Amino acid sequence: MAAVQSPVLELDGITKTFKDRRNGEVTALRNVSLALFAGKCVGLVGASGSGKSTLARVMMQLLTPDEGTIRFNGEPLPKKLSSVQELDYRKHVQMIFQDPFASLNQVHTVAYHLRRALLRHDLVKKNELQPALKALLERVGLAPAEAYLSKKPFALSGGQRQRVAIARALAVAPRVVVADEPTSMLDVSIRAGVLRLLNELKEAQQLSMLLITHDLASARYLCDTICVINEGRIVERGETDKILNAPEHPYTQKLLSALPQLPTHE
Ligand SMILES: Nc1ncnc2c1ncn2[C@@H]1O[C@H](COP(=O)(O)OP(=O)(O)OP(=O)(O)O)[C@@H](O)[C@H]1O
Ligand SMILES: [Mg+2]
Repeated sequence: MAAVQSPVLELDGITKTFKDRRNGEVTALRNVSLALFAGKCVGLVGASGSGKSTLARVMMQLLTPDEGTIRFNGEPLPKKLSSVQELDYRKHVQMIFQDPFASLNQVHTVAYHLRRALLRHDLVKKNELQPALKALLERVGLAPAEAYLSKKPFALSGGQRQRVAIARALAVAPRVVVADEPTSMLDVSIRAGVLRLLNELKEAQQLSMLLITHDLASARYLCDTICVINEGRIVERGETDKILNAPEHPYTQKLLSALPQLPTHE
């Protein structure tokens, strides 16, 4: 039997309530527990407003939960990180957003974005910068790197932009990548390439991934397990094939029949 692996990142009993003057209180997460393991991807699926992005933001420590614990490498994180702890956490846990256009700064070049990530965390010496930039771009399939380094995001295609955002996330050699609908704004024809890249990176670098998606074909391709979230609560979880082929919870059954089902091209 394989040795039991311990989680890289773990949410344990997380609850988060927003107090909104107009809508009153909204409990976006209710006692949510979820664990990410090296080289594995967990899919998070649920209807709009079910709490998926809130979970991602809690995991990224962009939001403080009201209750519960986050453990990284088995160590509980303090409720509020100091700026040094936060910088260290960002070195290990990175996020890829839905809209690469919004997440990259239009006035700066591709090289600037990647250089900033590398230098911010003191990962390379100045004289090693150029080869490091080239290697990063090549790793995400943007080759020859020289053709991209001096370009600004608006001069790239949507797929190329998302690859730059992925390269920026990878610059710090993270252990965990949280991707909130990373391909939903991309043209269907280029989604498969970006998914394939994420899958290769997951395996080659033993990344732990959380993939938030509405697209079952993406979930089937990339995720080892799936968690189904409804009104802030995880209602069902299990191996991808099991959840997608034989869902047990009535909410999962309803959700799967409502989600778009693209044919897989693999
Ligand atoms: N900053 C906030 N202030 C108040 N309420 C919020 C805030 N952020 C999220 N919410 C509420 O929390 C709930 C969960 O929102 P969340 O963004 O996590 O949903 P989601 O599952 O990511 O939805 P979608 O699929 O549409 O992206 C919603 O009811 C939302 O209105
Ligand atoms: Mg969301």
